[in-house]
Amino acid sequence: MKRFVFLILISVGAVACSSQWKSLYDADEPREVNRIAEKPSVGQGDAARGLDYLTTGDYVGSGFPWSFARKDSVRIDTVFMREGKNALISWQNIAFTAPNGETVVSGSCFSCHASAQMGQVTLGLGDSYSDFTSLKPWQAPLFKRIVKKNASEAEWETAENYVNWLAHSFAWIRTDQIGLNSAFRLEEAFAAHRDPVTLAYSKQEVFPNQGPNVACDVPPLWNVKKKNALYYNGMGRGDFTKLLMQAGMMGIADTVAAREIQQRFVDVVAWLEALEPPAYPGKIDVALSQKGELVFEENCQKCHGSYGAFPEYPNKIIPLWKIQTDPVYAQYFMEESGLPAWFNKSWFGQTAPVAQLLPSNGYIAPPLDGVWATAPYLHNGSVPNIATLLNSKLRPAIWTRSGSTDNYDLEQIGYPYQEGKERTSPYTYDTSKPGQSNSGHYFGDELTDEDRIAVLEYLKTL
Ligand code: HEC
Ligand code: HEC
Repeated sequence: MKRFVFLILISVGAVACSSQWKSLYDADEPREVNRIAEKPSVGQGDAARGLDYLTTGDYVGSGFPWSFARKDSVRIDTVFMREGKNALISWQNIAFTAPNGETVVSGSCFSCHASAQMGQVTLGLGDSYSDFTSLKPWQAPLFKRIVKKNASEAEWETAENYVNWLAHSFAWIRTDQIGLNSAFRLEEAFAAHRDPVTLAYSKQEVFPNQGPNVACDVPPLWNVKKKNALYYNGMGRGDFTKLLMQAGMMGIADTVAAREIQQRFVDVVAWLEALEPPAYPGKIDVALSQKGELVFEENCQKCHGSYGAFPEYPNKIIPLWKIQTDPVYAQYFMEESGLPAWFNKSWFGQTAPVAQLLPSNGYIAPPLDGVWATAPYLHNGSVPNIATLLNSKLRPAIWTRSGSTDNYDLEQIGYPYQEGKERTSPYTYDTSKPGQSNSGHYFGDELTDEDRIAVLEYLKTL
């Protein structure tokens, strides 16, 4: 009898489940794929004004006093060729005027979203060289004391909240190796010390933020225009101005400042919509790439979309059981992180235009435009090149790249590496660490060697 009741429960459960799946998943791919149909329009912005704002604007809210900033007496910004104080600091940093009139300095979006490669800085290319490996929790309070002791009253007024927020983040953002980026853990630390409605600084945590250190590779920004949902797990839904500005909200004082920034981000979205991937700089075998296109249409297009004159991108989130890549990142946001709940009830999620963080148990199949440039591969950057992504038997378990931005393999597409038995440098990637597995995405394994070579050639053309 017990067994019978149990069976009924299971079958009722199955019915309830399948109707839920149906609403989420598309009819021709039941239970498989969550397709994000559309995104709201943010209105007409000006791309040039957007880039100008990203490189000189006040979207970080506050920062270190100018007198503490690392600067030069001659121009060192040779990338954006900015004027005034911005000319004297690195192109990845930004100087702006805080609300009390003091000049402050902080990292800009381009401290993570631009990268040098083979002698050229590419805007929008994720920086695979960012280093979160040496941060130690004790550094933050020490640092705070040094700033407080040496800053003028006006300087401390602008720096206090910023330094406080940084101090809250230091314990949670260290990574084991260079390239893994803990941006969301950084943001969680900032959000956990803000009232969700007023966004004001709160010394006490408003949600617990003691999770594991979840970090990932940095995706390229030129794909944002095709995407209806942002982030690897597709959790960024709704208004893109709100989603984009959250990345820079380290030092914003309140919702008045946030609103002004949100309105300027209409231009930032316009800049992103206009951003193009860099072209493959090597030689392409046209006949081979045409053969590869057919292989791609057959095996890859349904997830990654089509390219060329009439591109189509399906915006699909592939569930973990199907994609089988490392689950830690997706599961963290589904189960552990306090950020989605905070965000959805905050100024971001509750005032127009509304944005939401809706995590899922899977990863978006990304557009592959400019994919030749975006090594390492997969959301956790666990695979050094596309040749091994397409043949899982060849993926190295522990691999070390040189750390020089000039070192790029245009044939296998990705980083030249040495396979080893142990960590030999901060550039060593160890796939046995939590969150760093190189499993999954076995779709290339089903191809013949010939087809794999052809599809690799085709990917160079995207
Ligand atoms: C500390 C490094 C860092 C900074 C600073 C940063 N980002 Fe990011 N950004 C990341 C990482 C890492 C991800 C990947 C997270 C994910 O997709 O789950 C990301 C994701 C994104 C995405 C989603 C891309 C996609 O394809 O889904 C956009 C858009 C974006 N960032 C824009 C910005 C903007 C605009 C700024 C400045 C306001 C900024 N970021 C600042 C590291 C950073
Ligand atoms: C069932 C859907 C699906 C199919 C089929 C598929 N992919 Fe993917 N692909 C994904 C998903 C999802 C990811 C992201 C996984 C992750 O980051 O964990 C991905 C990631 C990738 C990446 C890495 C992108 C990056 O920047 O890290 C490449 C390259 C790629 N796929 C190429 C291909 C090729 C070539 C084929 C055909 C042989 C193919 N894929 C077939 C779903 C698919």
